[in-house]
Amino acid sequence: MESLLQIMSADLAQRREQGTLKGEEQVVEAILAGGDGHGPRLLLAGQGQTTFLAMNSNSYLGLARHPALLAAAAQAADRYGVGPGAVRFISGTCRAHLELEEALARFHQRPAAMLFNSAYAAVLGVLAPLISPQTVVISDELNHNSIINGLRLAKPAAKEIYRHLDMEELEARISACRHQARRVLVVSDGVFSMRGDHAPLAHINEICQRHAASFPEGILTIIDDSHGVGAFGATGRGTEEQTGSRADLLIGTLGKAFGVNGGYVTGPPTLLAYLRETAPCYIFSNPISAAEAAAARASLAYVDSSAGGAALHKLASLAGRLRRGLTDLGYRTIQGDHPIVPVITGDTATNRQLAAFLFSRAILATPLSHPVVPRGQDEIRLQVTASHTAGDIDLLLDALAAFCSRPG
Ligand SMILES: Cc1ncc(COP(=O)(O)O)c(C=O)c1O
Repeated sequence: MESLLQIMSADLAQRREQGTLKGEEQVVEAILAGGDGHGPRLLLAGQGQTTFLAMNSNSYLGLARHPALLAAAAQAADRYGVGPGAVRFISGTCRAHLELEEALARFHQRPAAMLFNSAYAAVLGVLAPLISPQTVVISDELNHNSIINGLRLAKPAAKEIYRHLDMEELEARISACRHQARRVLVVSDGVFSMRGDHAPLAHINEICQRHAASFPEGILTIIDDSHGVGAFGATGRGTEEQTGSRADLLIGTLGKAFGVNGGYVTGPPTLLAYLRETAPCYIFSNPISAAEAAAARASLAYVDSSAGGAALHKLASLAGRLRRGLTDLGYRTIQGDHPIVPVITGDTATNRQLAAFLFSRAILATPLSHPVVPRGQDEIRLQVTASHTAGDIDLLLDALAAFCSRPG
């Protein structure tokens, strides 16, 4: 043990030196309600009574403490207990899970949906069973870590990576494996979590349709739209709605815009029935709790209510306000409509200074450097939520303006 611990200490020290150590986690002590023109604020351990503006939450609709979700969770916990007590096929399935699966299928206008205990597990659970030794997988270079590790667990005939969003390269790679594969999977994030840009799904589908007949088992598109569902598109259907196109298999999370926890896949019933028999992280791992399932169903109902429509509208408008403000200040960002708004500094030291400066102004934002983003693409990821106010965005922009004009 002693020598192992020394190796680990050296590794941690190296990460600290390179500035890539994630380090101590901020501990949230309390969430204070918004009011008087500002959104909610956080109290953090060790920071006294300073109240922090969080620009680093995936809870895009601000639903985690919505009364309807809390009530649904409390009722379900009361009825089924706080934990499932077993995996789905033993005794862990309760009515709340089935009701949520039906609601998710309806939400995405699919014949069926299947829950996993996280989107990460959903990606692992979907990829491995669908990849045979005669399958070629083609994946965007900036896909989420769950896809990268999902592909590592599988044994495809080949794994091809195309440059981010480069449709010419995607098509060339599909053409090149014509005699090598029986089946092709094209796998992409919907919204890319570090950038807020999204896969050109209509174009991907058009390419796949053009080439599908060259493969005996066809080409399947698998989209992980964890940052898109509930947050993006006029009614929160994500990248599919934004691009007017659909994936064969759509994976989403319940733990970001929907404000709860868990993951899911939607698609053809036979395919999902096959996954229920073959996906290890579904078969051998407990599902989300009944309380989470009931809260997530309340969340879907919220998104489809007039309040949900208004929240989506507000979210898009606040994200636009932030992008315009950043551009006016001369910051580099990525244009688009998604509430992930990156500030690209391109430099690890500046990135760290900017995050620390924002922290000193009681603003939480995530600095991302290599290997989380490509070298030279260091960024501060800002995430807007519907519980922010225009005043919150202006406060952030004032702090960013002050960073530009600081002495030295
Ligand atoms: C694209 C993508 N997929 C999956 C996940 C994981 O989601 P979950 O927390 O539900 O496992 C994330 C979260 O960071 C993500 O960005």
